[in-house]
Amino acid sequence: MDTLSVMEILKFPDPVLRKRAKEVEVVDDRIRELAGKMIKTLHAAPGVGLAAPQVGVSERLIVVDVSAGEDPDEILVMVNPEITYREGETGIEEGCLSVPDFTEKVTRSERVVVKGLDLEGRSITVEGEDLFAIVLQHEIDHLDGVLFFDHISKLKRSRYVAKRKKQLREESKQGGA
Ligand code: NI
Repeated sequence: MDTLSVMEILKFPDPVLRKRAKEVEVVDDRIRELAGKMIKTLHAAPGVGLAAPQVGVSERLIVVDVSAGEDPDEILVMVNPEITYREGETGIEEGCLSVPDFTEKVTRSERVVVKGLDLEGRSITVEGEDLFAIVLQHEIDHLDGVLFFDHISKLKRSRYVAKRKKQLREESKQGGA
């Protein structure tokens, strides 16, 4: 594993995760290099999707791999992705590489159509259903500063936020000891 390419994944409550990411203006080598590092970071985690704000880059770029590194053909990189159509309803227990120690069922659209650009700057349209559709929606949410727990009840969310704050306090105590 090329560990030099693995980036640090920001964790809630890092403020970058709550910002609306800006459009990528030019798909150039900088973006291609970032996408490559994001794929390595995703596979190292391991996870099924990663958005650029999660590695501290507030720009509209996502990588998705529902095979979690098993099948290179499953890797999708999208620049400036936008959901143009959604249909049906589904939901699974979701988690997030930026939200430690928490999963919860989230209701999502069952099928989506997403338009965006590939790494050559060409327009692409992707149709997704089931898990692939869920991951696309989850990652595109990240570009708008939305985390999966924003879709669950306020009570469950605030319980998690309180638990996370306590966890961070304990970590910082240990760090200072
Ligand atoms: Ni996530």
